[in-house]
Amino acid sequence: MAGSPFTSSTRDVPEVSGIPRHIAIIMDGNGRWARKRFMPRVAGHGRGVESVRCVIRACMERGVSHLTLFAFSSENWRRPADEVSFLMQLFMRSLQKEVDRLHENGIRFRVIGDLSRFDPALVDMIRRAEVRTAANEKLTLTIAANYGGRWDILQAVTRMLERNPDRRSGFTEEELSAELSLNYGPEPDLFIRTGGEQRVSNFLLWQLAYSELYFTDTLWPDFDENALDLAIRSYQARERRFGRTSEQLSDTESVATPRPTDRATGDHA
Ligand code: IPE
Ligand code: IPE
Ligand code: MG
Repeated sequence: MAGSPFTSSTRDVPEVSGIPRHIAIIMDGNGRWARKRFMPRVAGHGRGVESVRCVIRACMERGVSHLTLFAFSSENWRRPADEVSFLMQLFMRSLQKEVDRLHENGIRFRVIGDLSRFDPALVDMIRRAEVRTAANEKLTLTIAANYGGRWDILQAVTRMLERNPDRRSGFTEEELSAELSLNYGPEPDLFIRTGGEQRVSNFLLWQLAYSELYFTDTLWPDFDENALDLAIRSYQARERRFGRTSEQLSDTESVATPRPTDRATGDHA
């Protein structure tokens, strides 16, 4: 029955503490980092790659199993052409340089986003790296490139309709989640945005429904493992209720999913 008040694909039993399984980061502030040093904006992007390396290593050491990094948004095409082209080159060079090391370290590499506007050589390199690292299990590293949360939801809906042309009954949240480009991992437990802005900028709109949000003024090139630990500590101090009351969380019985007979009845369609 569509529309039951208990129909929700958001996480059921809250995990109260511990290391987040999935961290998603908007790596912002590269341009300002460079400008503060009287350098061109792109120097900040170059330095930002160091932070990416550092955060990958730190996540592995801490037992985070999924790390998703926003590298280029669907809106970033609006930037000056030379900055866009620098970012593409940097992506290609970094991937070329790092793929062996990613593989040796047991990292599964994935890219999400609309790659149709990318240089075919870059797309080919991405696809080969994905295949090569597909069986690795230590950390799943996802780079969001030409990614937009609205694009993702729309492509998922389009695919659902293509697969089910005769469906009349509507779709479930699980069916839609399964078509999203990040369908191979859990939803982010912790969302981090560096650089001081407090917005989501069309990142993982669907999957951030119940993520803990953490904003820091630290610019991405200055973000290191200590900064990551501050974010994780903030996450660990949160109480994830997923709709329940605080009292229910200390009572394991009431945290369990309501039995079908407990559910409200009535047609909410
Ligand atoms: C984030 O840093 C990197 C990308 C969007 C690719 P910015 O380039 O947005 O840096 P600021 O926000 O201008 O400082
Ligand atoms: C968001 O950063 C996208 C990435 C980090 C890739 P922006 O700097 O482009 O975001 P807005 O436009 O300021 O929100
Ligand atoms: Mg920015």
